[in-house]
Amino acid sequence: MYTKYYRVDPVCPDAAMLAEAAALLRQGELVAFPTETVYGLGANGLDAAAVKRIFQAKGRPADNPLILHIADADNLAELAAAVPASARALVECYWPGPLTVVVERQGHVPDAVTGGLNTVAVRLPSSPVARELIRLAGIPVAAPSANTSGRPSPTTAQDVLADLEGKIAAVIDAGPCDIGVESTVIDCTTPVPTLLRPGGITYEMLIAVLGDIEVDPALAGAQTVPKSPGMKYTHYAPAAPLTLIEAEPVRSAGLLIREINKALTAGKTVGAIVSAELADIVPPTVMTAVYGSRTDAAAVAANLYTVLRSFDDKAVDVIYAEGIAEQGLGLAVMNRLRKAAGYRILR
Ligand code: TXA
Ligand code: MG
Repeated sequence: MYTKYYRVDPVCPDAAMLAEAAALLRQGELVAFPTETVYGLGANGLDAAAVKRIFQAKGRPADNPLILHIADADNLAELAAAVPASARALVECYWPGPLTVVVERQGHVPDAVTGGLNTVAVRLPSSPVARELIRLAGIPVAAPSANTSGRPSPTTAQDVLADLEGKIAAVIDAGPCDIGVESTVIDCTTPVPTLLRPGGITYEMLIAVLGDIEVDPALAGAQTVPKSPGMKYTHYAPAAPLTLIEAEPVRSAGLLIREINKALTAGKTVGAIVSAELADIVPPTVMTAVYGSRTDAAAVAANLYTVLRSFDDKAVDVIYAEGIAEQGLGLAVMNRLRKAAGYRILR
């Protein structure tokens, strides 16, 4: 299949191009599009056959449900059987934006979207391109991240094409995503809302509205039955095995250099993912990718997947990554790094 390419302005996208892409969506085709978090792989969310094509293109397990993207907050009531007060308060504060609420679904939401669950995940993105595309399509758009399952999520159209060119009808390129990690997913069907995936709307921002939330134990890497099916799979992983260093800065520096030197001595080709603060102490033979200052979690989030993907074309045997503090977007960054490491963590 030939993948059509549309280049649009991120703020004032070309209306005719978006109308063409929206028509493809209505016809049951797959269209990758930018959001403020990561690029999504869209399909008509009410068309089970179209939704199944998403799973094929990504190689995604069928029991991992998808998020429905809407263009207007009023559309939530058309998908949810009930909108709990917690969900109402959250969407009032943080929509449009990187927040996904899990609510009870209505009967017409296909099983292909929910993985057979009785709940559905819904998000109203803030990206003007995403919103206009969904509005023109006139349907809820089911969209996971537009990567091959298990790979780092795409934050540019080039990342999308690297994984999915020839497998999807079109991609809309509006340049790099602002936030760089996926939306926050919060289950609003539990008595106290449960954080399933940390993201652009931070823990602190959720607490500010709700007062109290539960955090799913699977987020800490605990061996429990995950509530969000997406949490049980290895994710975001670069080609070579990655080990995450999780300690306060001084200990991190020591652990990182010790492990790197051990690997070099064993004759391995080594990669390192580090903060600007540690970049200069990494031995020069190590292939080093810098994610920014460890004091700026938002910048680290924005660079994270590009840094993970930068090792795709490098023949390294092992990669060591330096962790950051879990404040603000740091919680989402560490969640993704732990998964990318398959929970290989040194403390
Ligand atoms: O930022 C984002 O959310 C991006 C952009 C494209 O919007 N999308 C995204 O989708 O990250 P995906 O499919 O990669 O992640 C969706 C997550 C998965 O962890 C999935 O298990 C969870 O949401 N999820 C979806 N429906 C759910 C449900 N009914 N109950 C619990 N978790 C659900
Ligand atoms: Mg994903």
